[in-house]
Amino acid sequence: MTAGAHWFVPCPRGLEAVLAEELGELGVATGKIVQGGVHLGASLAEAYRVNLRSRLASRVLWQIARAPYRSEDDIYKLALRQPWGDWFDVDLTIRVDVSATRSPLRSLEFTTLRIKDAVCDHLRSATGRRPSVDTRAPDVRIYAYLDESQCTLYLDTSGDALFKRGWRTEAGEAPLRENLAAGVLRLAGWRPGEPLLDPMCGSGSFIVEAAQTCLGIAPGSQRRFGFEKLKTFDSDLWATEQVRPPFESLAGDPHLAASDVAGDSIVQTRANLARAGVPADVLELILLKQVDARHIRPTTAPGMIVVNPPYGQRIGLRGASDEGSFFAEFGNTLKQRFAGWRCSILSADLALQKKLRLAPSRRTPLYNGAIECRLYRFDLVEGSARRSAPAALPPIEP
Ligand SMILES: C[S@@+](CC[C@H](N)C(=O)[O-])C[C@H]1O[C@@H](n2cnc3c(N)ncnc32)[C@H](O)[C@@H]1O
Repeated sequence: MTAGAHWFVPCPRGLEAVLAEELGELGVATGKIVQGGVHLGASLAEAYRVNLRSRLASRVLWQIARAPYRSEDDIYKLALRQPWGDWFDVDLTIRVDVSATRSPLRSLEFTTLRIKDAVCDHLRSATGRRPSVDTRAPDVRIYAYLDESQCTLYLDTSGDALFKRGWRTEAGEAPLRENLAAGVLRLAGWRPGEPLLDPMCGSGSFIVEAAQTCLGIAPGSQRRFGFEKLKTFDSDLWATEQVRPPFESLAGDPHLAASDVAGDSIVQTRANLARAGVPADVLELILLKQVDARHIRPTTAPGMIVVNPPYGQRIGLRGASDEGSFFAEFGNTLKQRFAGWRCSILSADLALQKKLRLAPSRRTPLYNGAIECRLYRFDLVEGSARRSAPAALPPIEP
């Protein structure tokens, strides 16, 4: 891992461009943006920084080898010749994962086994021992990505996925992954200082990400990373990255508010904010209230509403006899009480704007895991109450 090493930073699909923007703000020069992530040419210090400070990245993968292949045997030989003993101790546990696009190989499971065998065979011939496999909590994760002709091997420097910030013990109903929540805030155009309201907050993912951003708390400041277990770990360099001054910080009232019809959600959100490092005096300024989303009122100057309503059969809307009437009423509340606000709604319901009877100014495709969603943006201008029949939609963004 030297200056100019090659890295791949995966992220939830739909966030690639904003991830590249965020990495630029972290001072890291980005390479090609592809579906599912961003390539980087970066130093070790920069890779530590992305692990610690990126809100949108899912992992930081260090590219250790890349070669053409035609069979599982070619991949076995590529993995066998890598100097695994230079990177980690044979006493550490490993896990191998393989993903592929248009690979001619028939079984990715078999390929995964062959890579695992190659790592074990290499270390056994070098040390006389072989590492154990632990698929649940491995010390070292190895990834292979196959396209139609090339195999790329990566060592994962993150360990647990980066959306696991280390503060969440209160999950609530269908919580968003933290990096998706942070990505939605960025796509919506929210910036620290602008009033933010989440009227269906659940466990508070949006508000926690926003509060940490306002306070300059690095998202990874409460967790450990895979790179700490590698032989290449440079503790001095890591210490230097950790004391770097925050990139964004805002003193005083962060103008954040969250509500939910469920009292448990308010308790969870408060507990999650505290665990995420929000000090008690700032926590007191964050407005948390149990209220039905149809009855909310603005408590600040116009700002941004960001919301992820329940969708699907597993979780339902509370207090409404049917979805259609709930969203019509919620839409009315937005139109009548929130003129001058911008509202971004993340939903897997591709007909949501009809139910709200509001015309979105933008619809951005986004994936919540495997679920295809849209991030709808509504500009609640004075008089939008009259625009009940939506005009033709603008084209969906790529
Ligand atoms: C998909 S969850 C939100 C998850 C949240 N974004 C998170 O990351 O934890 C939807 C939330 O809407 C809330 N909800 C359901 N009906 C509601 C209503 N009528 N008014 C306000 N909140 C409601 C549920 O209690 C639930 O917490």
